[in-house]
Amino acid sequence: MKGKVCVFGSFNLDVVAGMTRFPLPGESLIAQHSMMGPGGKGANQATAALRAGARVHYIGKVGNDDFGTFARRHLEKTGFDAITLFTCKEKPTGNALIYVAGNDAENMISVYPGANLTVSAAEVTRCQPTVAAADILLVQLENNLSAITRMIDNARAANTFVILNPAPFQKISDRLLAKVDLLTPNSTEATLLTGVTITDISCAQRAAEILHRKGARQVIITLGTAGALLSTENQQLRIPLFPATPQDTTGAGDAFNGALAARLAAGESLEQAALFAAAFASVCVERAGAAHSMPSYAEALSRLHAHPECQPN
Ligand code: RIB
Ligand code: NA
Repeated sequence: MKGKVCVFGSFNLDVVAGMTRFPLPGESLIAQHSMMGPGGKGANQATAALRAGARVHYIGKVGNDDFGTFARRHLEKTGFDAITLFTCKEKPTGNALIYVAGNDAENMISVYPGANLTVSAAEVTRCQPTVAAADILLVQLENNLSAITRMIDNARAANTFVILNPAPFQKISDRLLAKVDLLTPNSTEATLLTGVTITDISCAQRAAEILHRKGARQVIITLGTAGALLSTENQQLRIPLFPATPQDTTGAGDAFNGALAARLAAGESLEQAALFAAAFASVCVERAGAAHSMPSYAEALSRLHAHPECQPN
């Protein structure tokens, strides 16, 4: 079954430089390779959800500029069910400058949100039927919080399941957290949300409990090389890390979130969906780029099946 996922989130033009190491302040350093392409957590997660088997409606906002035109052309040929792409006259299309370096292909990113921060109340209202028609609304924090909050309110009013990936971190109220069905911070974001420094799985468990107390009913904390912790009010369980040979970790969190939404919308259990999402993300890190590095459903499924030790109980 194909579920319907609505993703509201950023579109950024990503400029990626592959380095042997990160440059130091004041230093100019030759890159080994470079790439320019579609990114932004929203567009990446929408692409991941699509590739993981969902019908996807993407909602975003770009500037009235060349990158905005590039965004529209790119999104139109991606294969979404529909896109709603608003245009901002005052602010440019968002961009991200990304360095990738080191053996683990770690990244360092600056994000200029531009048009992503200008989604108005009227624009949110225009998306209401789309949000109501979806099984799941998936949002991140690269847009203005006022619009994110309104989208979530509209989803709740229509009984659409809400996943919030709180990335990059912005301060959010407990009131907002309590409106979210599933919260998916990484360890840094979980620390900023709870004050618990996460060094191991038991710290992650403590952070998850605090998030439950703040009102988030279901939580998945992604823990980098330690996999992920899935936590609900009555179960806590560890999602393993699938072995991979990282080339570029950009978009790994987006791969996880998009795939998770797709599999939940298809009716899978939280545990099954999280395992699939972890397998999906492990293939994504083996490829350069963000939106372009999302694997297919079949590729992720064969990664999942290649590791019988990682199957659901
Ligand atoms: O999560 C990766 C994304 O973060 C990049 O594509 C970049 O645009 C930033 O938003
Ligand atoms: Na990647």
